[in-house]
Amino acid sequence: MPLTIAVVRERAAGESRVALVPETAKKFAALGAALRIEQSAGVQSHFLDSDYADVQAVPGIADAYAGADLILRVTPPSPEEIAAMPEGAVLIGLLKPFESKERLAALNARKITAFSLELLPRISRAQSMDALSSQGACSGYQCGLIAAARCTKFFPMLTTAAGTIRPARVLVIGAGVAGLQAIATCKRLGAMVEAYDVRAAAKEQIESLGAKFVDTGVSADGSGGYARELTAEEKAQQAEKLAKAVAAADVVITTAAIPGKKAPVIVTKDMVARMKYGAIIVDMAAESGGNCELTQPGEHVVANDVNIHGPLNLPSRMPTHASELYAKNLYNFLSPWIKDGQLNIDWTDEVVAGTVLCKDGATVHATVKQILGDA
Ligand code: NAI
Repeated sequence: MPLTIAVVRERAAGESRVALVPETAKKFAALGAALRIEQSAGVQSHFLDSDYADVQAVPGIADAYAGADLILRVTPPSPEEIAAMPEGAVLIGLLKPFESKERLAALNARKITAFSLELLPRISRAQSMDALSSQGACSGYQCGLIAAARCTKFFPMLTTAAGTIRPARVLVIGAGVAGLQAIATCKRLGAMVEAYDVRAAAKEQIESLGAKFVDTGVSADGSGGYARELTAEEKAQQAEKLAKAVAAADVVITTAAIPGKKAPVIVTKDMVARMKYGAIIVDMAAESGGNCELTQPGEHVVANDVNIHGPLNLPSRMPTHASELYAKNLYNFLSPWIKDGQLNIDWTDEVVAGTVLCKDGATVHATVKQILGDA
């Protein structure tokens, strides 16, 4: 029996991506896999069932998951979806590994082998599989567009018959994958962009995009290419230096994150009070608590005439390309282990070992276990 890969329509609120696109379906089929999708699984990303050649479209979750060996998802499965998974199946997705102990217990009860792409080691070889990066790029791009659309000023400098318009000033806080894409997007639109990050490597990356680096003197590299949490003294030093840049900006885009932790609060209520009337904050970290003290996840709030946007699930605003990139990440992760229609995973591989969340009825990822305890 060939390996059966199954994909259902994502049901999380506001989710419009899909884990399999026609192009990657063809590639999995070429490796000898049999593929099954739930009807209309790709419709919100604008892929019709008929676009998926050699893929069987079935009516519901139960039909899609029955007998499946490998389940591809974007978001974590619901309890009902887990119950429909065959015991011992392999699951891969952005499973929010730190969010719910109950979900891990449910996966373990069905002996699901679960890979969570948030845990993927950040080594060069894994770049093509890095879903946080591909989706982060979508989010950063969207932040730039939201900011430009909501700003009451032009982003570019404009020389008109009526006189010259000065470019908008944008400050990007957090210059990882998403932040750098936000910088690039705002630069393309002609804004004057400044940016800040605590990782030492960020200065050069910010400057390579033509933006100015805001130096607060605080540097906080953590492990695995990520930032570490700042100490109280570092936070105070950062706040003092950043407050000036925040007050001068027309737009502040915040993307700062620490893996597995609540987002750091960087833009305080006091800083907002000193911002220009009509200024905009787009807080990409809204999902994990927000980088601005006043952010409300999923909402637009106004404080002191400053508009604070806390958009959620930004990649879902551009699901066609977000799904294409995500599906490629999944293919790049899985394809080395699929040959002649069989799945043979090398558990000693560094990328595999770093990404596996649950196996043989237990949670196996050390950091997840440390934070959530055994599930
Ligand atoms: P992230 O989403 O975890 O965080 C976003 C940014 O916020 C990071 O640049 C971080 O340094 C920054 N940040 C955290 N706390 C902050 C604070 N208090 N103030 C200001 N900034 C703060 O990070 P992301 O974008 O997922 O990746 C971070 C870096 O990891 C990348 O820029 C890159 O260097 C590296 N990376 C390596 C990959 C690989 O080799 N496979 C793939 C992707 C990223």
